[in-house]
Amino acid sequence: MKQRMLVVSNRLPIVVGEQEGQWTISPGTGGLVTALAPIMSANHGTWVGWPGCDQSAPLDRLCGQFAEEQGYALAPLPLSEEEVEAYYRGFSNETLWPLFHDLLGNCHFKLEHFKVYQSVNRKFAELTASTCSIDDFVWVHDYQLILVAHYLRQLGVDQPLAFFLHIPFPSADLFRRLPWKDQLLTGLLEYDLIGFQTLRDHRNFVHSATSLADDTRVVSRHRQYTLLRQGERIIKVGHFPISIDFNQFATQAASEQVADAAWYLHENYQRRQIMLGIDRLDYTKGIPERFLAFERALEKYPQMRQKISLLQVVVPSRTLVPDYLNLKTLLEQLAGRINGRFSQHGWVPVHYYYRNLDQTQLLAHYRTAEIAAVTPLRDGMNLVAKEYCASSVENRGVLILSEFAGAAEQLAKQALLVNPYDLEKTADAMYAAFTMPVEQQQQRMARLRNDIRRHDVHRWVRSFMAAADRRSDHDIES
Ligand code: F6P
Repeated sequence: MKQRMLVVSNRLPIVVGEQEGQWTISPGTGGLVTALAPIMSANHGTWVGWPGCDQSAPLDRLCGQFAEEQGYALAPLPLSEEEVEAYYRGFSNETLWPLFHDLLGNCHFKLEHFKVYQSVNRKFAELTASTCSIDDFVWVHDYQLILVAHYLRQLGVDQPLAFFLHIPFPSADLFRRLPWKDQLLTGLLEYDLIGFQTLRDHRNFVHSATSLADDTRVVSRHRQYTLLRQGERIIKVGHFPISIDFNQFATQAASEQVADAAWYLHENYQRRQIMLGIDRLDYTKGIPERFLAFERALEKYPQMRQKISLLQVVVPSRTLVPDYLNLKTLLEQLAGRINGRFSQHGWVPVHYYYRNLDQTQLLAHYRTAEIAAVTPLRDGMNLVAKEYCASSVENRGVLILSEFAGAAEQLAKQALLVNPYDLEKTADAMYAAFTMPVEQQQQRMARLRNDIRRHDVHRWVRSFMAAADRRSDHDIES
């Protein structure tokens, strides 16, 4: 791609640290950074975002150093504590996050939060407008920044704008509960390309747009995208399932360092299977339900006792949002109760850790676990499912996957698909995974790995960019 890329996301893709007065800056490790960094450095792009670090950090100097080392620029937008509280913790994570994950009961609707969400989106737009030039490819990411296009248009930016939603988009019936649905829908429709994770999200959005927004209709439907017309404008809506860098995971997981760490980890579970759960602390991830399903499996299938442990790692996240803290307490109680009920000499059914894992440990967990339980109540994609398969370099292991994870659209056939609300059937799936013959595991895992290898994160970027490029289909179909 020749165009310069301008990425706008809530967080900048950086890790800023300080040790004994020495500040450091390094690139973050998420999939988005891995996918975009090569393009960003090849065309000297700019990434606009909230630095999210201590206000005393010497940001200008650190960003300059980052640009020199990585080949692309950062445009940091510092936010005040009040803005973070209302825009990020409030409207983004207590309103949009639960609503878009179909969890209406967790939603808080506060006008004050929405107003700050608007003003922060405007700030993002102002910084973007001052950074971008007419030929840039402007790509805005995720639910925190839905209104950026709206403010960019107000500021006179009239080039094509692209948006990708990393989380699910709810049904029209749920979306209309949002008191500010009109502003958000109108705002979204000011982008020229809107990408979703799955066909289901894509369809949900088209339904909301055509039933709730004024003067909006479908022009044509295609396998991967739909063209909408609103007044004079044509908007392309598509689904682009995000992925991981398969080769990076597979190569690192095959390293000796990871092999050693995996062996060491399993030494503590000799002659036992490990069923692994790795999730950010989040009530959308279905962790309590997973614990309950495991408890049910131990009740129903006594032959599993002493032969399998659930190893659950919960990575701290959004700890200042009250619902997240309550979840932490609940998980501790549940793990305690199940262990109190079933533990026997030399065997503990639930090993629960609340911590971050470094990359070697993460890969070692993936590589050594016989089963991965990825059972969110709802999830945009869920990359843990893909990372587990990519790291299963011995071509074994069973993936238990929620039908409500975006990844299920792609991986359903070879995973054991479950409804995480159905404890009985999830317990049965755990037993099926526990007893699955090795040849069947290998067959399924080989297919999963092939599929993920072919549809990696680099292909995701290419297909999104290609969709943005195809202006001609507007001309043909208008
Ligand atoms: O999945 C949505 C997302 O915002 C990701 O982009 C991010 O990695 C994750 O949730 C954690 O979010 P936060 O930035 O709120 O810690």
